[in-house]
Amino acid sequence: MKTLTIGNQQVTRVGLGCMGMSDFYGPADDQQSIDVIRHALDVGVNMLDTADMYGPWRNEQLLGKAIKGKRDQAFVATKFGVMRDESGAFLGINGSPEYVRKACDDSLKRLGVEHIDLYYQHRVDPNTPIEDTVGAMKDLVKAGKVKYIGLSEAHPDTIRRAQSVHPISALQTEYSLWTRDPEQAHIPLCKELGIAFVAYSPLGRGFLSGGIQSTENLDPNDYRRSAPRFSGDNFAQNKQLVDAMAERASAYGCTTAQLALAWLFAQAGHVMAIPGTTKRHRIDENLAALSVNLSHSDVVALNELAPLGAAAGTRYDERGMTTVNR
Ligand SMILES: NC(=O)c1ccc[n+]([C@@H]2O[C@H](COP(=O)([O-])OP(=O)(O)OC[C@H]3O[C@@H](n4cnc5c(N)ncnc54)[C@H](OP(=O)(O)O)[C@@H]3O)[C@@H](O)[C@H]2O)c1
Repeated sequence: MKTLTIGNQQVTRVGLGCMGMSDFYGPADDQQSIDVIRHALDVGVNMLDTADMYGPWRNEQLLGKAIKGKRDQAFVATKFGVMRDESGAFLGINGSPEYVRKACDDSLKRLGVEHIDLYYQHRVDPNTPIEDTVGAMKDLVKAGKVKYIGLSEAHPDTIRRAQSVHPISALQTEYSLWTRDPEQAHIPLCKELGIAFVAYSPLGRGFLSGGIQSTENLDPNDYRRSAPRFSGDNFAQNKQLVDAMAERASAYGCTTAQLALAWLFAQAGHVMAIPGTTKRHRIDENLAALSVNLSHSDVVALNELAPLGAAAGTRYDERGMTTVNR
């Protein structure tokens, strides 16, 4: 099954994460990124994922340029709620109804579209009841500015409360062979409630492709240089995991990145992934992961190779960890 349904739309289970085209992973070339996005649409990768805070704001503008003339082929997903200033400094989380309304209007302008296909709350605001935030999102649906609504990094109890106000179409949460926590409650809950589960950083921010041999080769401003799983002894320990994955991948005749994605698709039919890339050929490689068929025993073997908690280090620093699963 290569697609899943969100509302009345078919979405390919490999989407494209656009974040790294404008932020976090060092410099990227805008023209090349536009070409990558357009190529993705041409080969049938239709979910394009961005957020107002990526760039900040530049990633939505870039996506808007890329989809000009191709709007009908794209399923545009963006997010609000993490506030940053011009310098990129984090200013906090905001889920108040007034903020939701303004953020949506600003995103529509930057994207140059009349509606957003999927609008996520990026992080749950502990100071605003989820019912109020989702109530404001529901009004955006009524106004025709948004088609479907989603949450990111929300706690299962929050998801249930949100669902009582308006149907939640997608939950976006980190999920991969080195972040298996969502299997415990989030993925079963999404199945029960008919919510698509969108796995972000499905390649462990590139680590699970086997392509990152050392953080020394990363740009000086690359976020991963300070990310716990890429730091010090954690890197060496996590490298053992990805080396073992690479061995399996060569036995299956696929790349390590494809193995990481194929494992994810084998989990459940309502799970999809939004790997990020700035390279055209990797769109094809990641899409082809849908054709890597792992048997039940292959999946069990991978589960044993990378059980819950196998990765060394937390997925965010201390501050970041306080903003997830709320
Ligand atoms: N909701 C949230 O809080 C949240 C948080 C983080 C990310 N996201 C979303 O999820 C998307 C994906 O996550 P991510 O970008 O953090 O991590 P990711 O998809 O796990 O990894 C992206 C990295 O992997 C590399 N890569 C991609 N395909 C590859 C392949 N086939 N072989 C080797 N390397 C490959 C990319 O490098 P190249 O560019 O060189 O190909 C990039 O550095 C983001 O773009 C963003 O839209 C959401």
